[in-house]
Amino acid sequence: MADDRPEVGADVADVDLSGQTVLVTGSTSGIGRAAALAFGRLGAEVLVHGRDEDAGAAVVAELEATDADGATFFAADFADRSAVHRLAEEVTAHTDELDVLANNAGGYFPNGGTTEDGIAFTFGVNHLAPFVLTADLLPTLAAEARVVTTSSLAHRQGGMDFESLRTPETGQGWGEYAQSKLANVLFTRELARRLDAAGRDVTANCFHPGAIPGSGFVRNAPFPIPTLTRALSAVPDPLTRPFVTTVSDGAETLVYLGASPELDTSGGYFTNCRERRPSLAARDEETARRLWEVSEDLAGVEVDLSPAIEQ
Ligand SMILES: NC(=O)c1ccc[n+]([C@@H]2O[C@H](COP(=O)([O-])OP(=O)(O)OC[C@H]3O[C@@H](n4cnc5c(N)ncnc54)[C@H](OP(=O)(O)O)[C@@H]3O)[C@@H](O)[C@H]2O)c1
Repeated sequence: MADDRPEVGADVADVDLSGQTVLVTGSTSGIGRAAALAFGRLGAEVLVHGRDEDAGAAVVAELEATDADGATFFAADFADRSAVHRLAEEVTAHTDELDVLANNAGGYFPNGGTTEDGIAFTFGVNHLAPFVLTADLLPTLAAEARVVTTSSLAHRQGGMDFESLRTPETGQGWGEYAQSKLANVLFTRELARRLDAAGRDVTANCFHPGAIPGSGFVRNAPFPIPTLTRALSAVPDPLTRPFVTTVSDGAETLVYLGASPELDTSGGYFTNCRERRPSLAARDEETARRLWEVSEDLAGVEVDLSPAIEQ
């Protein structure tokens, strides 16, 4: 029977993360929870995030039963930008240095609408919130910190429609989800480029976790995704592994990108702990630059990549 510890599949079970602090957004359930528990078993201090206080307390209790060097829950609704800024402030007050920032919270939101700040909902939660959180936490990131963002294979179906980002009537549903996951890849590549240009050793990578039959995400996904995912999950593992996984398998690449000493990539898109080429649209440098500028404009932030000054 397969081991359900993501750190085993990611080949990092022997890595010691004690002394490191890891923030996993969206770790009250699903992939984020499985990754948070793995980081805890590897000895890190784990900062758990979500909206559901009870689920957050349950994950903290689970972490306290591992080798984690402490666990704390932070609540923040990513559909409210002021809550994202507050989360960054609380994390900065809590820790001197963040070693891993895992931008994982997100989902498929078929009802569309807008966030509290008037941004198309899926784009706001899945892209703009992690953009703002990362920007706010840049001064708190350790010298060789890792920013890991959960994207999706769905990015291949996405295109950036910059005109739709303030208009909830257009681009709802799967198209908007695919666009937000494309934004995750473009953001990762542009962040990596800017960090490198600023002479910082912080890396940024993103990944596709697989299509996970038991996840909240697939339960909410439109037909035929839940049906197909369930059917494919009955097919022998080697044939479907790149596409259909368990929650634990889905967390493997996140744990690999956060913990593997072998990782020497920045700006990469990974599946099954291996770097893959993302879509043509995701490799468009001009679109990545524009997304960065539009995101700064929509969020009212100017991202400063200079390292924090040593006191
Ligand atoms: N599962 C898949 O098949 C699949 C495939 C490709 C990509 N992904 C990506 O993987 C990531 C995690 O998905 P999952 O499958 O693990 O889903 P999940 O089980 O539904 O977990 C989603 C997590 O995100 C948090 N979240 C959702 N909306 C939020 C909001 N408005 N503000 C703050 N936190 C919010 C949830 O926390 P609360 O409920 O506590 O708010 C929860 O911890 C997502 O980015 C998703 O796009 C999943």
